[in-house]
Amino acid sequence: MAANLKIFQASQVTDFQDWSRDVAGNMERTLESLLPASNTAPTRLHDAMRYATLGGGKRVRPMLAFAAGLISNADPERVRIVASAVEIIHAYSLVHDDLPCMDDDVLRRGKPTCHVEFDEATALLAGDALQALAFELIANFKLADSAETQIKMQQLFARACGSGGMAGGQAIDLANVGKQITLPELEFMHILKTGALIRASVLLGAYCGTALSEADLAQLDRYGKRVGLAFQVVDDILDCESNTEKLGKTVGKDQDANKPTYVSLMGLAPAKQFATELLQDALDALSGFGDRAERLHQLAEFIVRRQH
Ligand code: IPE
Ligand code: IPE
Ligand code: MG
Ligand code: MG
Ligand code: MG
Repeated sequence: MAANLKIFQASQVTDFQDWSRDVAGNMERTLESLLPASNTAPTRLHDAMRYATLGGGKRVRPMLAFAAGLISNADPERVRIVASAVEIIHAYSLVHDDLPCMDDDVLRRGKPTCHVEFDEATALLAGDALQALAFELIANFKLADSAETQIKMQQLFARACGSGGMAGGQAIDLANVGKQITLPELEFMHILKTGALIRASVLLGAYCGTALSEADLAQLDRYGKRVGLAFQVVDDILDCESNTEKLGKTVGKDQDANKPTYVSLMGLAPAKQFATELLQDALDALSGFGDRAERLHQLAEFIVRRQH
């Protein structure tokens, strides 16, 4: 309870940069302790899992889980487990996304991609093992007040990762290379490949606390859906107008690979306008939560206005 109070008060008094640095630091320490040690066998696989997960990334999904936890007065000890599980899935998705059979990228988070640093088979297995670890965490720790809620959390997490979520979106992404698709088709792909896990991060954080009304959960879910889509719209924009040093990954890859994106379908200025509209809708969804939603508000702004 004391820890709860501290994180809740912290949301009122520290600025967003301090808060996000705190969450990122907490995540790094937590992930460090949850990942298999590099001196246990199979050491090369464990090294690759740690390489892909530690020491980089914006940690946006964990921040969303912590911020949503503030709405339901969640115990940060619980939230840090769901936040780790989500970040571990995200790390695995990046390892596989970068493989030669997918986007064939050599730079990630300012370092050589996992398959470049290790080898393709190790990168593939590191992704597999990270996914299993994430689900193990969700099963091993008590994360909700009732067993029923915890099972609901496992279900929504699995759906967000599988063929109706991230993996499905990635399959659609690959199937659409070089194709003309419609805006609704593009939106569906983005909602799955990136939106689903972001949406799940918000709900999982909220489920760690006291039960919210169906109406409150629906508003949080609306927020998560808009922010999740906005995240990929901005990723498409940055791929086109940022630079490799700032992003820590090679820019211009979408156009080179002939991928349909919000920029290629709409143009740069309308894509930015669309991201702003999504932001506004996400913020509207928070209107009933008052001060408790301050961090979610700031995160949505960060996601849409970020430069990396
Ligand atoms: C990149 O995600 C991949 C997408 C889903 C668009 P992030 O931009 O969150 O990557 P990191 O974790 O900060 O490296
Ligand atoms: C990846 O989208 C989404 C994932 C599920 C990993 P991108 O392929 O656009 O991500 P980046 O630009 O390589 O980070
Ligand atoms: Mg990709
Ligand atoms: Mg990629
Ligand atoms: Mg991209």
